[in-house]
Amino acid sequence: MATKKKEEKESKKESKSKENLEYVNKQGKRLDGRTVDETRPIKIKVGVVPNADGSAYLEWGQNKVIAAVYGPRECLPKHTANPYKAMVRYTYRMATFSVPDRKNPRPGRRDVEISKVSSEAFERAIFTEKFPNTAIDIYVEVLDSNAGTRIAALTTAAVAVADAGIPMRDMIAGVAVGKAGGNIIVDLNKYEEDAPDAVDIPIAILPNSEEIVLLQMDGLLSKKEWVEARTKAFAAIKKVHELQKQALLEKYKNFESTPSNDGSDKQ
Ligand code: CDP
Repeated sequence: MATKKKEEKESKKESKSKENLEYVNKQGKRLDGRTVDETRPIKIKVGVVPNADGSAYLEWGQNKVIAAVYGPRECLPKHTANPYKAMVRYTYRMATFSVPDRKNPRPGRRDVEISKVSSEAFERAIFTEKFPNTAIDIYVEVLDSNAGTRIAALTTAAVAVADAGIPMRDMIAGVAVGKAGGNIIVDLNKYEEDAPDAVDIPIAILPNSEEIVLLQMDGLLSKKEWVEARTKAFAAIKKVHELQKQALLEKYKNFESTPSNDGSDKQ
């Protein structure tokens, strides 16, 4: 009983200290020194899983994600195949050691939801109609996390799909935007996501057409705040997209197209 009271007191104290926190100071700097429209550092490496058709590894601040793509391949069990298009099966998982409290390895409601919305995003991007009766399997494993993992996962997976040579209308790139302490900020970290007035909006788009393929929202924003958040998100996504392209170029810059005997270009 006494410990419960102590815990309650501590959590009240913690939320009070979060209320008093200055999420953006007078110099326009956030708790981790970033400006309001700055993402955490992003590093992408292509081709990290030798047995996969395409793969990528990404570090986004503390978030670490690995993605592997298999397919298009036979869709099993057969009754799940679609004679008009490929089935995109996206699996988002968090490693048991990727969060402060051990994550249950069984997929929970959150993992299933993220996998579903991410599959739908890829169905917009991939020319699925070119591969009837097949499956495209995208597996993403989060190895370390600090908020923004669904977008980090999607960004990595898009690079892996491109590495697999699967034709896409466009790359998928994203960022989470939101609000903490009354400020509209880009790429919230866990501390900012836990602010008393926090709003978290993961957004992913097809960068060339700017079509939104994933949009979720925790919390409420006014219309004016939303317009500001959207503008900041789109600007940040352009930078993420550039990094995706650079990572792919890094792998393929040394591949030269050599003419084969049948006259077609072969790598
Ligand atoms: O990661 P994302 O922001 O896309 O999703 P979220 O549901 O808003 O989760 C925010 C963060 O909470 C994650 O990035 C993890 O760091 C953390 N988390 C956790 O500690 N334990 C879980 N079972 C799930 C998430």
